[in-house]
Amino acid sequence: MERQNRMPGMLVIFGGTGDLTHRKLMPALYNLCMDGLLPERFTVVAVGRRDKTYEQYLGEVYKSLEQYSRNRITAACWERLKSAIRYRRMDLEDLSGYKQLADWLNELHPEGAADRIYYLAVAPEHFETIVAGLKAGHMAESGGRHSKLVIEKPFGRVLITAQKLNSRLLEVFPEENIYRIDHYLGKEMIQNIMVLRFCNLVFESLWSSRYIDNIQISLCEQQGVGTRGGYYEQSGAMRDMVQNHVFQVLSLVAMEPPASLATEAIRAEKVKAIQAIAPMTPERLATDVVFGQYGRGVVNGQSVPAYREEDKVAPDSMNETFVALKLHIDNFRWAGTPFYIRTGKRMKKSFAHIVVQFKALPDVLYFKEEGFRQEPNRLVIRIQPDTGVKFMFNTRDFGAHKGIVTTKMDTCYACPAQGNTPEAYERLLYDVLRGDATLFSRWDEVEASWRLADSIIAHKESACCYPNYAAGTMGPAAADALLERDGRRWWDETEGLD
Ligand code: BG6
Repeated sequence: MERQNRMPGMLVIFGGTGDLTHRKLMPALYNLCMDGLLPERFTVVAVGRRDKTYEQYLGEVYKSLEQYSRNRITAACWERLKSAIRYRRMDLEDLSGYKQLADWLNELHPEGAADRIYYLAVAPEHFETIVAGLKAGHMAESGGRHSKLVIEKPFGRVLITAQKLNSRLLEVFPEENIYRIDHYLGKEMIQNIMVLRFCNLVFESLWSSRYIDNIQISLCEQQGVGTRGGYYEQSGAMRDMVQNHVFQVLSLVAMEPPASLATEAIRAEKVKAIQAIAPMTPERLATDVVFGQYGRGVVNGQSVPAYREEDKVAPDSMNETFVALKLHIDNFRWAGTPFYIRTGKRMKKSFAHIVVQFKALPDVLYFKEEGFRQEPNRLVIRIQPDTGVKFMFNTRDFGAHKGIVTTKMDTCYACPAQGNTPEAYERLLYDVLRGDATLFSRWDEVEASWRLADSIIAHKESACCYPNYAAGTMGPAAADALLERDGRRWWDETEGLD
C-alpha cells in the first residue's frame, strides 16, 4: 500500500459499540497503525446508543484487539489508538441530537466536515435517518467540499428500496464521496483476479468461451447463522451473499480489460459485465436456480441444529440458506460458457474459490491410444482459507512404464509460513482514507445487481420441501444435478472434498 499525505483527520463511526466495529474496524485501524499507515493527526469518534465511560469503551476495544487483531498488541500502537479514540452516546433516531453532535465534533475537530469520514456501521433501518441527521447538523460539507460516507450492506432490500436509499444519500453526498463497502473486494485474491488475467499472456489470450468450458464460483461456509438469525430471516443467501459478493466477484472474472487502471475505467467494465448477464426467464428460473435450507446434521463431529431451530428463526421458515445458479453472459466473450454459482451456510467446509475449467482436447493420441481419462485443465483461484492459485495440467506419470496423470502447480500466498496478510477491512479503510474508490461498488453496479437478484428472489416462493440438505454436506442434491445435466461437476478438489 502506498502512502499519501493528505488524508482526512477524523473518522466518525455510527454503531461504535456494534459487532462490526469491534471485530473488524478497530482491529483494522490498529493494524494500519502497525503498518505506519494511519494519518498523523487522526481522531476516531465512536457513536453508540449505550451509556459508557471513555475507560469502559477503551477496555472493550482492547479486548476486541486481543481477540481479532492479526498483530499482537504493542504499547506504542495501543497508546496511539487510545489517544485517538473518543466515545459519544447518542440516540441515532432522534434528529435533534445531530446539532449537538455537530457542535461537539466541531470543537474536537475544527478542520471542518470535509476533513471527515462518516462510517455507517449500523443496521440498515438507521441509514436514512443518520444521513438526514448529517444534513440537518450541516455535517456533510464545509468550504464547498464534502465529507466521505462509508455505508455497509445491505444496500436496500429490493431494487426499489435500494433506489430510494440511493436518492436519499445523493441529496446529501455526491456519488464520488459515497463508499459502498463490499468486503469481498478487499480480499487479496479478489484484487489479484485482474492481475492474473491481465498480466499473463497464457490466461489473457485464453480467457473466453473459445477456450473456457465453464466457470464456477463457490463461496461456502461451514458456520450456521449463529446469533444473526433475526437479520438472516430478512435476508437469506440471495441478499446476504449473491446480490453483492457473488456478483462482484463474477464481474471481475468476466469483465473486459479496462482502458486504464483508473477507478472509473474499472467500474465501467464491471458494470457492463453484470448488465450482460442474461435475464432469468421463467424457463431458466425453473431449471437453473436451486434454493436450499439446512436441516440438522453433523459438523466437525458435532451435532448441529437445523436452520429452523436456530435462535430468532421461525420454526416454519421458508428462507434459503443455500443458492446455486447457472448464469449466462450474453456477450461476444462469454456466449456459450455457463457460470455456475454456489453459496451456502452449514456446508461441509468453509472455502471460497473460483474454478476456471478449460475445454477438453479432442479425443485423439494419448486419450485414444492409451485410454487415458481426460481431465480438463483448470485454474483454481483460491480466495480462502488458503489464498493462492492452482493450475491443474496433465503430465507423464514419471517412473511408470506408461500413463498420464493430472498434476498441479500450486502457489499459496497465505499459508502459515508466509504469513500475516492484511485483512480486507484494513485495505478498504485505507482506501477510503486516501480517497480511492476502486474497490467500492458504484451505484450502477448495485442497481444492475439488484435488477437480476430481484428476479431470482421473486422465484423463491416456488421453493418447497425444506430442509433439503443436511448440515455438514455440500448442499441439496439438486445443486449437483444442475451440473450433471450438462455433463459437468463441481470441482472441489482443493478443499479435499472429492
Ligand atoms: C457477510 C455475510 O457479508 O459475509 C455473512 O453477511 C457471511 O453472512 C460473510 O458469513 C462471509 O464473509 P467471509 O469474509 O467470512 O467470507
